Amino acid sequence: MVSLKEALKDKLSEEELRILRRGFEIIGNVAIIEIPDDLMHKSELIVSAILWRHKNVKTVLRKVGEVSGAFRVAKYEKLHGEETETIAKEYGCRFLVDPTKAYFSSKLSIERERIAKLVKDGERVLVMFAGVGPYAIVIAKLSKPREVVGVELNSVAVDYFRKNIKLNKLNNVVAIEGDVAKIVPKLEGKFDRILMPAPYSAKDFVHVIKGKIVEGGFVHYYTFESENHEDELPKKVEEVFLQNKMVVKTRFMRKCGNFAPYVNRYVLDLEFIREV
Ligand SMILES: C[S@@+](CC[C@H](N)C(=O)[O-])C[C@H]1O[C@@H](n2cnc3c(N)ncnc32)[C@H](O)[C@@H]1O
Repeated sequence: MVSLKEALKDKLSEEELRILRRGFEIIGNVAIIEIPDDLMHKSELIVSAILWRHKNVKTVLRKVGEVSGAFRVAKYEKLHGEETETIAKEYGCRFLVDPTKAYFSSKLSIERERIAKLVKDGERVLVMFAGVGPYAIVIAKLSKPREVVGVELNSVAVDYFRKNIKLNKLNNVVAIEGDVAKIVPKLEGKFDRILMPAPYSAKDFVHVIKGKIVEGGFVHYYTFESENHEDELPKKVEEVFLQNKMVVKTRFMRKCGNFAPYVNRYVLDLEFIREV
C-alpha cells in the first residue's frame, strides 16, 4: 500500500485529506483506489498524483462496491486508462489477472511467502478457493512440494490460474474448476497441507476436508474476527473442527489484513491431530 495522503498533502485541503482513504492498491499496471463521493470533484487531481508517482500505472480504477458474491469480486469504475488485465509480480512469480473479473490482492503477498516457507520438500498441498493461483504458484516456486492442487469455482479465475501455471513454468501445479464441496471429497489420497483462504465462509467448508489431511499435517484457516474477540479465536475455530469430527490444535495465529473498522483477517495454522 502507498500513502495517497502523502502524495496529495500539498494539493488537498485538510478536510479533503481527512476524508481521503489512506492507501491504495497496485496490481501490476492497475491502481485501485477508493474515493468518497464528496471528493469525486477532485478525482482528476488524485489520479494525476498516482500517475505521477507511479509511472508503471496505466489504469486507475475506483472501487465503488465492496468485494461480494461467491467470486469475491468488487465493483469498479474506470477513472483512467482502458486495460484492466495486467501482470502482478511477487517473489519472482508472475500472475496474469483482471481484478474486475477475478479476486486478487497484492496485500496478501507476505502471507503467501510465509506459507510457502513452511512447506517441506515433497509435500502434497491443496489450495481450496485458489483464485488465479497466487498461493499455489508461490508455494511451487519458493518451495519443493511434490504436488500442489488448486480448486476454484470462478471459471475466469481458473482460466488465469492455468495461464499462470504456464507463465511460471511449473509442472507440479494442477488447477481444477469447480465447487470445493463437490471436488475435494473426490480427490484421491490425502494432503500434507490444506489452505482455506476464504475468510468469509471457511467454516461452512470445514466438513469438506475430513479424510483429506494426514495426521500431523497442517490446515491454514483464514477468517474474519472482531479485534475484541481475537483471544477467543483459537478455541472457537478448534470447536468448529470438533463439530466436524476433527481434532486440531492451533500452533500459530496472526492478523493478516483488515476487513472493516476493528474487524481483521486472521490466519490460524492448525495441526491436524486425528478424526473422532
Ligand atoms: C478470497 S478469494 C481468494 C482467492 C485466492 N486464494 C487469492 O488469495 O487470491 C476466494 C476465492 O474462492 C472462490 N470460491 C468461492 N466459493 C467457492 C467454492 N465453493 N469452491 C471453490 N472456489 C470458491 C472465489 O471465486 C474466489 O476466487
